[in-house]
Amino acid sequence: MRIVLVGPPGAGKGTQAAYLAKNLAIPHISTGDLFRANISQGTPLGVEAKSYMDAGNLVPDSVTIGMAEDRMEQADAAEGFLLDGFPRNLGQAEALDEYLKTHGLKLDAVLDLEVPEDEVVKRIAGRRICRKDSSHVFHAEYNKPKTEGVCDVCGGELYQRDDDREATVRKRLEVYHTETEPIIDYYKAQDLVVTIPALGKVEEVTQRAMAALPSRD
Ligand code: AP5
Ligand code: ZN
Repeated sequence: MRIVLVGPPGAGKGTQAAYLAKNLAIPHISTGDLFRANISQGTPLGVEAKSYMDAGNLVPDSVTIGMAEDRMEQADAAEGFLLDGFPRNLGQAEALDEYLKTHGLKLDAVLDLEVPEDEVVKRIAGRRICRKDSSHVFHAEYNKPKTEGVCDVCGGELYQRDDDREATVRKRLEVYHTETEPIIDYYKAQDLVVTIPALGKVEEVTQRAMAALPSRD
């Protein structure tokens, strides 16, 4: 199964992706996590990406598309994947279509997580992520770790993302509306979009998403 997750910053894409990828036994590919891993390792790609991320802008397609395709190759795209945070503009959506066409593959669904803006602001304000692996995500009120400040999964230290400061969050939301939302219409034209109301408990949202997926080949 090949799935794309879309939704505004803080909608819960990373949180849901972890459960969905496990349930479906497919790799979770997050371009945001790939950039953060490069930043913590101090790679040239990480240094370049950080300036865009800290400003709330998209990292240029010239960097992002190649990175996402390398990761899909590694995962063996034919076996399926769950893309989180990619594609994020029309250029990336077209590049993904081209990549899939070249490999004789197709997407099965695009899950659009729908959350009101005041809720995403609250979710982002309380988010804490793990220093060792940014896909380990918690919330100070809604999704507390067992021990304050410590990751349940690996024991790493929890901290607030640099781009979760208020001014950057406003910019990320603006970029979402102008650059990312148009891909929803692009995928609607391919009849792939399923809208998932993403308010409520994490496990309720996972159940809605699982129920909305097309049946497996
Ligand atoms: P990225 O890391 O992709 O960030 P994002 O899209 O802004 O999404 P977030 O990670 O903020 O939110 P999420 O939807 O995953 O929510 P989460 O599960 O954490 O991208 C960061 C930056 O990298 C971009 O700004 C850009 O610069 C760059 N980038 C990445 N991909 C790119 C691309 N393709 N092209 C160009 N640039 C790119 O949940 C949020 C919080 O809510 C958590 O605390 C969680 O515990 C909590 N929560 C989750 N679900 C619930 C629930 N049901 N109820 C209550 N709380 C909940
Ligand atoms: Zn961790």
